[in-house]
Amino acid sequence: MSLPNTSHDSQDQPLDRLGRPVRDLRISVTDRCNFRCRYCMPREVFGEEFKFLPRSELLTFEEIHRLAAIFHRLGVRKLRITGGEPLLRKDVDRLVAMLSRLPDVELALTTNASRLVEMAPRLAAAGLRRVTVSLDSLDDVVFRRMNDVEFPVRRVLEGIESAVAAGLAPVKINAIVRRGINDHTVIDLVRHFKGTGCILRFIEFMDVGTTNRWRLDDVVPSAELIEAVGAEFPIEPEAPNYPGEVARRWRFADGSGEIGFISSVSQPFCGSCSRARLSADGRLYTCLFAASGTDLRAPLRSATDDDQLRELIAGVWRDREDRYSEIRSRATRESGRVEMSYIGG
Ligand code: GTP
Ligand code: 5AD
Ligand code: SF4
Ligand code: SF4
Repeated sequence: MSLPNTSHDSQDQPLDRLGRPVRDLRISVTDRCNFRCRYCMPREVFGEEFKFLPRSELLTFEEIHRLAAIFHRLGVRKLRITGGEPLLRKDVDRLVAMLSRLPDVELALTTNASRLVEMAPRLAAAGLRRVTVSLDSLDDVVFRRMNDVEFPVRRVLEGIESAVAAGLAPVKINAIVRRGINDHTVIDLVRHFKGTGCILRFIEFMDVGTTNRWRLDDVVPSAELIEAVGAEFPIEPEAPNYPGEVARRWRFADGSGEIGFISSVSQPFCGSCSRARLSADGRLYTCLFAASGTDLRAPLRSATDDDQLRELIAGVWRDREDRYSEIRSRATRESGRVEMSYIGG
């Protein structure tokens, strides 16, 4: 009797304790950002005094590529380059070129678009497929207040146009909604992007990190937004693009595209969470809300070979039982949590 060939499944592709595979790796290439969004890097904390990672502590592109290839062996088929603001990392297009050569991988990048006009053509030429841009409001006063560095809406829109022109489409637009801050401007965003091919997604403000003074009262539940948007533009639910998609999709009834809602607080999606995160200094985090990660940089920089690294990572994944958004436990909150600007969105 011949045994089925399982060498690529059960052995190479680990499942965590809740039966979830690892499919998606988010790679933070820098912990720095030129914005100070109050929900992410409030300037009282991330101001003059803040100690960002020194350059020597960052993984090199070669080290990132080596790890990405190992994650690929373990089942990862989606890579997202994030930060901080990833376009602040010098020559990040060189990393894009390296990662885009991995077979069967969807490669994307999340950015605040401040450098997208210059970078979009270089990123596209290097093999990037698409970008996701954070833009919380089209009202210039509201947006400047949210990014807290007086960055104008106009320049983000120019960045989005450059991305579209470079073929980095569909561009996704992520807008965090905070009650009393930008919730009165959501319909304008919908009107602006409807029919453009860009996919707008509204995100519930989350209690990531420890510095953004999150309060449940500040969260605008997706159900409320769906009702508000639907009253203005008829929308109908749409099936997910892939199992475990974070955004719930809705299509405009008039055929002018789709819109998404990311309800991490009101309808958590931990059950299908197959995301791992790599910080800029090479720590592996198995949840956005983790208090600590596993150092991969030391083994990378010692004589560890790829098989040993793969076993180390597979072991961490097999041990994983994170589902913070479903339990939102006080214990996790009190044990400290990393910042989203450090492990990426
Ligand atoms: P696409 O493949 O382009 O659809 O990307 P995505 O759906 O993975 O979304 P993206 O990376 O743009 O993430 C959007 C937002 O969803 C993030 O900024 C977070 O606010 C939230 N989010 C993404 N992943 C997680 C996660 O694992 N846990 C939680 N709680 N929130 C997440
Ligand atoms: N809640 C939800 N999303 C957040 N992001 C940053 N901080 C938060 C938060 N507190 C998202 C931004 C951006 C990405 C980098 O991370 O919307 O799209
Ligand atoms: Fe920077 Fe994005 Fe965080 Fe804003 S949300 S401070 S743009 S990393
Ligand atoms: Fe995944 Fe953790 Fe987010 Fe749940 S809270 S979806 S386990 S990253």
